[in-house]
Amino acid sequence: MRLMVNGTPHEVDASPGDRLLDVIRGPLGLTGTKEACGVGECGACTVLVDGRAVVSCLTLAVRVSGEVTTVEGVAEAAPGLCRAFAEEGGFQCGFCTPGQVVAAYGGADPSGNICRCTGYAGILRARESACS
Ligand code: FES
Ligand code: FES
Repeated sequence: MRLMVNGTPHEVDASPGDRLLDVIRGPLGLTGTKEACGVGECGACTVLVDGRAVVSCLTLAVRVSGEVTTVEGVAEAAPGLCRAFAEEGGFQCGFCTPGQVVAAYGGADPSGNICRCTGYAGILRARESACS
């Protein structure tokens, strides 16, 4: 299948049941996107498809026809957003952070991304300072 990711076209071998998350982390080697719950509840695996936040653990790769943006693409397009998470203490273990950063970049509601560590204050400050 063909997949446009972070502005680059890719040809990847994907089975009908492969999740977008598997293709991103596997053949494409973009391991910034994380899997936590694997059932669409936590937002750790969030990527953008045509600018809209989606959970890649519940998205079949073969169904994706739009442009995918991962945290690597966001880091390149909006380095200030990633810096804001660091400066505002918007992470601790960091496992949820790629999804938080992508969701913030896409303007998604922060309540879609669960964090076990931070208490959310730093995350919300980072979003506020970088996205407003
Ligand atoms: S890993 Fe996809 S929503 Fe939690
Ligand atoms: S920083 Fe650890 S889960 Fe969010």
